[in-house]
Amino acid sequence: MNLLLFIVLLNVSLIKANIYYDLSNEDYSDVQNSRNFTGKVVLTTGSSSGIGEGIVKLFSVLGASVVVTGRNATEITRVAEECQELSPNKLKPLEVVADVTKSDDLNRLLSETIKTFGKLDVLVNNAGIGPTAGVRDKAFMKVFDQTIQVNLRAYVELCYLSVPYLDETNGTIISISSIASTHPYIANMAYEVSKTGVDMMTKALALELGPRIRINTINPGMVETNITGSLPPVIVDALRKELIARTPLKRIGQPLDVAKGVVFLASSDAQFITAANLFIDGGLVYNTPGY
Ligand SMILES: *[C@@H]1O[C@H](CO)[C@@H](O)[C@H](O)[C@H]1NC(C)=O
Ligand SMILES: *[C@@H]1O[C@H](CO)[C@@H](O)[C@H](O)[C@H]1NC(C)=O
Ligand SMILES: *[C@@H]1O[C@H](CO)[C@@H](O)[C@H](O)[C@H]1NC(C)=O
Ligand SMILES: *[C@@H]1O[C@H](CO)[C@@H](O)[C@H](O)[C@H]1NC(C)=O
Repeated sequence: MNLLLFIVLLNVSLIKANIYYDLSNEDYSDVQNSRNFTGKVVLTTGSSSGIGEGIVKLFSVLGASVVVTGRNATEITRVAEECQELSPNKLKPLEVVADVTKSDDLNRLLSETIKTFGKLDVLVNNAGIGPTAGVRDKAFMKVFDQTIQVNLRAYVELCYLSVPYLDETNGTIISISSIASTHPYIANMAYEVSKTGVDMMTKALALELGPRIRINTINPGMVETNITGSLPPVIVDALRKELIARTPLKRIGQPLDVAKGVVFLASSDAQFITAANLFIDGGLVYNTPGY
């Protein structure tokens, strides 16, 4: 080979090496283990029912140590026992009865988690309420304050309390938001404002917490849970029918649909994803009514 050509080719490959991050085969094959959460500690609020129950069960299947927390001790124990059964190493969850509107309870939730498991890798803000009230209703301000307290303030406070521990583990935060963060519905303003707040909290904290801690949201559409438990069954039924018809994927979401998204965002597969709002709604957000 002509020496000049050789030098030119050598230079080209050196330049390429400088420009492109050269991934090893190990980086590619790591993806096979990315959902193995053995040795990881996961704290999920509202995990005694609904979406949170789905999340702690899926993390248990994937080997994590989980904290099951909510307000009802009976339900917490039921979910914890089911998690232990699903866990490959039959790990026993930590059970904590806590009300997320009380700072003392949140502090105790964190301190019991650290005392039991020694660290925290994943915080999932999930506990939420969805009462409806129009601005002309007498109870409006009460509903508004309570919704903001559960759906937004508790998320913020848990981030605040968890960050020192997540700094130590290069941990991650995932918050359950909603399609209601981008789309208004009539007589649901408190919920919408709380969820818009969660999305913005996430974007703002992503700037502060990187590169050590990633923070993202999942924004579900209608999910099969008891969050509509206070509405009359006939209204819930009509709502279901309407939403299924409008959803491009033609069904209501299940807690497991949301849990799979949470696990993805917590995994190393998402190691370059922060400040994201991942919609898991079967496409409903683009075809949703205003009521
Ligand atoms: C997950 O990782 C642990 C070690 O960290 C290993 O013992 C276990 O076999 C792995 N599980 C699977 C399903 O690969
Ligand atoms: C807790 O859940 C159990 C069983 O689901 C129920 O019977 C009980 O009334 C609940 N307790 C409270 C305080 O809500
Ligand atoms: C966290 O990330 C930093 C920077 O990449 C690294 O030096 C450190 O070892 C990591 N810590 C843990 C516990 O993984
Ligand atoms: C669903 O929620 C309603 C109202 O909040 C409550 O009365 C009911 O017991 C709940 N049902 C279940 C199965 O948790």
